[in-house]
Amino acid sequence: MRIAIIGYGGMGGYHGRLLRQYCGGDPEYPVELAGIYDISSERAAAARAEGIFAYESSERLMADDSVDAVLIATPNDVHAQYVERAAAAGKHIICEKPVGLGLSQAEHMYACAESAGVVFEVHQNRRWDDDFLTVKNIYDHREHIGDVYRIESRVMGGNGIPGDWRKRAAQGGGMMLDWGVHLIDQMFEMVKGAVVSLHCEYSYIYGEEVEDGCRLSVRFENGTEYLIVIATDCFINLPRWQLYGTEGTAQIADWDLSGGIVRPVVRRDEHIAGIRAGNGFTRTMAPRVGDSIIKSPLEIVRARPFEFYKNFAAACAGDELPAVRKEQVLRVSALMEAAQRSAQSDEVIKERI
Ligand SMILES: NC(=O)c1ccc[n+]([C@@H]2O[C@H](COP(=O)([O-])OP(=O)(O)OC[C@H]3O[C@@H](n4cnc5c(N)ncnc54)[C@H](O)[C@@H]3O)[C@@H](O)[C@H]2O)c1
Repeated sequence: MRIAIIGYGGMGGYHGRLLRQYCGGDPEYPVELAGIYDISSERAAAARAEGIFAYESSERLMADDSVDAVLIATPNDVHAQYVERAAAAGKHIICEKPVGLGLSQAEHMYACAESAGVVFEVHQNRRWDDDFLTVKNIYDHREHIGDVYRIESRVMGGNGIPGDWRKRAAQGGGMMLDWGVHLIDQMFEMVKGAVVSLHCEYSYIYGEEVEDGCRLSVRFENGTEYLIVIATDCFINLPRWQLYGTEGTAQIADWDLSGGIVRPVVRRDEHIAGIRAGNGFTRTMAPRVGDSIIKSPLEIVRARPFEFYKNFAAACAGDELPAVRKEQVLRVSALMEAAQRSAQSDEVIKERI
């Protein structure tokens, strides 16, 4: 399967390196890089300098019969037009997340691919992140911390909104479309059943026209609470993940997967030593110590590398279904739209999603 990349910036370059270094020639990963197209002559020159074929125009790329699939890694506002053209040219399509600027655009993109009979898969790659798979394993197996009833998923940076188009609403900027889409996709991969209510707040610390962070609280019909926090103004981070279960707490502190699991041994109040705290005394807020807790390390779950490309190639060959399915992508888009409505109105949205 020969794939051409459209948009050879940060993420297009990342895909290009993976496709060239690891996938080309390996029968387990039957995908290879055909070339790239970027609207910027500088980026095209950079590709050529790396020995990658750069198409002079997107028309040339679309007309090249040796290209089986395109991978769209442009700013978010131009995903849809390339999906339309690639589908019309009979190419299978990988589209970077977020699929488009909203639910109706996403539906239109899927309709284009369906009527052309091509595979269309959105690159929701963070389903295969080791930190997520590790947390999902804790969630799925109650022997770790019992039944998980609250989940906190945070990504925190201190660099503001990077680049130019990510700061512009018309180009699909803002942290909800940038990171919210990943964290919501992970949430739906983990917690089953319908969402029944949500509340979202956007932050505008840097005064850009789009949100530079958000805080999204979601409640599922089974009672699970799920908090998503995205920040770009933070120089001391809270943990990437914190899970509260009926029999313990699990934490992943950062991308390096440091953290662990703590389970209480006894829950009878008389065993809890109090501490001095500030100008007072507390047993309620005293940390559990000694033999009243059992600490255990995280059982790290690692993804098989490049699972996404492999699945995409198998889907194009008709051997597998795309791992990232239409109904999942549309559900994430629907939740993002509800979160945006909540952020604008400052109201709790009570809808089944
Ligand atoms: N899945 C992930 O982990 C992940 C990570 C980063 C970015 N992304 C996604 O990848 C896409 C690109 O993000 P980025 O960080 O690489 O942005 P970027 O600004 O680094 O790169 C975008 C590239 O697209 C080119 N471009 C702009 N308009 C174009 C057009 N009309 N036709 C062809 N090329 C055009 C630009 O010249 C630039 O080289 C976005 O959709 C983003 O959300 C995904």
